[in-house]
Amino acid sequence: MEGIERICQFLEEAGAYYLGTTEGDQPRVRPFGTVLLYDGRLYIQTGKVKDVSKQIAKNPKVEICAFKDGKWLRIAGVLENDDNRDVKVAMLEKMPSLGRMYSPDDGNMQMLYLKSGKATFSSFTEAPETIEI
Ligand SMILES: Cc1cc2nc3c(=O)[nH]c(=O)nc-3n(C[C@H](O)[C@H](O)[C@H](O)COP(=O)(O)O)c2cc1C
Repeated sequence: MEGIERICQFLEEAGAYYLGTTEGDQPRVRPFGTVLLYDGRLYIQTGKVKDVSKQIAKNPKVEICAFKDGKWLRIAGVLENDDNRDVKVAMLEKMPSLGRMYSPDDGNMQMLYLKSGKATFSSFTEAPETIEI
């Protein structure tokens, strides 16, 4: 399995992850759950009206952290907005419950992909493993 696939699978299986952004000199973190592997890219989804979206627009450097079965994953990376409608449709097909809040043409639904970054799998028992994106 390719690195990016392993990362997506880990986030999916963890069920939720934590997304860190910055607002000025203040770190902000919140739970997220959306993950989509599309065209070899890792996408997450949010709403443009949210503070998290505004923070990413100002500073696209983020961290993601998830924990599962004694292993944790930390991604330090840069997110990029993608307004491609097909990606939004694919996200809604994968997670149909999102359709209660979002639609591809609502002007709010936002897809962001990890343009670059470094993902590290860690545990207390094994050496860390880093994947460059
Ligand atoms: C388990 C879980 C998963 C969530 N997944 C997402 C998500 O993928 N995208 C999103 O925009 N909000 C998601 N939320 C809601 C955000 O955490 C919430 O809207 C948060 O307040 C957004 O951050 P902000 O207030 O800094 O804008 C999720 C909440 C929970 C509890």
